[in-house]
Amino acid sequence: MFARSAARALASPSRLFSTSASRHTKVAVLGAGGGIGQPLSLLLKSDPLVSSLSLYDIRGAPGVAADVSHVDTASEVNGYAADKLDEALDGVKVVVIPAGVPRKPGMTRDDLFNTNASIVRDLATAVARIAPTAHILVISNPVNSTVPIVAATLEKAGVFDPAHLFGVTTLDVVRAARFLAGVSGASPNDTPVTVVGGHSGATIVPLLSQSPYGKGISGEAYAQLVHRIQFGGDEVVKAKDGAGSATLSMAYAGAKFTNSLLRGLNGEKGVITPTFVKSSLFADQGIDFFSTNVELGLNGVEKIHPIGPLSAEEEKLMEACLPELKKNIEKGKAFVA
Ligand SMILES: NC(=O)c1ccc[n+]([C@@H]2O[C@H](COP(=O)([O-])OP(=O)(O)OC[C@H]3O[C@@H](n4cnc5c(N)ncnc54)[C@H](O)[C@@H]3O)[C@@H](O)[C@H]2O)c1
Repeated sequence: MFARSAARALASPSRLFSTSASRHTKVAVLGAGGGIGQPLSLLLKSDPLVSSLSLYDIRGAPGVAADVSHVDTASEVNGYAADKLDEALDGVKVVVIPAGVPRKPGMTRDDLFNTNASIVRDLATAVARIAPTAHILVISNPVNSTVPIVAATLEKAGVFDPAHLFGVTTLDVVRAARFLAGVSGASPNDTPVTVVGGHSGATIVPLLSQSPYGKGISGEAYAQLVHRIQFGGDEVVKAKDGAGSATLSMAYAGAKFTNSLLRGLNGEKGVITPTFVKSSLFADQGIDFFSTNVELGLNGVEKIHPIGPLSAEEEKLMEACLPELKKNIEKGKAFVA
């Protein structure tokens, strides 16, 4: 039974990767030796839209590359040691950044700011120099601040293209679909949820009212589901008991978002998913980065969708989200100013 389903899964990389488009792309992972970086590199090695993988870390990337390179897919894999960042970025079209420290129990994502802000700024400076037109996917936390840091760094270097920069909030979307499936008894395939706002606690706003399976959930069940989507990461941090935060589900989410972007870049139409991008939706309130459904296309961000109709509960969630998100964004900008 297991053997048959495993063989089927290997024969068609169906759920994670769609392959309808055919142009292939060189992708770099910065932080490839880490808890997220390693499984993410493995999953990207399995993505038929990736032609070449460039794995960089200040520790261990050549070893990860040697290991992953034996997987029998067509892409080539190269690993780069700490002093080889420029070589790692040469010719890349997509850069995925999971470099940085993860949370320990009791920490918020904002507690990571001091360490990760400079890591992300320095990596963005190198991308601006070596691969200025690359699409950059930021996983390093706090995403609400690290994305504005990358934007400001690229802006300083005169190469910022808002259509090329993404905060990866896919894990919130993956969790929302999985948790709603658990509550409703449906398959996660049928329970996609648009998650808007940012990527930490109260800034994560799941729009359950827009889901046929989510809209009937109310009262305590609703409150518990929203809390689990907003703070699902804490479950993993607690269970890992000091050994880090989500790595495997995050690698899955990162590979899924990368595949969505590659499909869009290859001209596939209708690739729409939430992601944290430069956005005018709440710019009049001083919030110029926001996650909503974004259509991905030939140049990256093709179209930013509005948030759509909200329930009374979701209006309240938005009220809690916006001031915190604004603070996080300003903190990121101030770091680079
Ligand atoms: N966006 C999300 O949904 C999400 C989810 C989970 C974790 N994260 C974040 O992802 C980041 C990585 O988490 P992890 O569990 O893989 O951590 P980890 O400590 O296991 O790995 C981080 C890796 O980054 C490397 N690194 C550090 N500085 C670097 C630099 N200057 N250049 C290149 N590599 C460098 C380290 O050597 C290490 O291998 C954390 O900031 C974490 O909070 C984001």
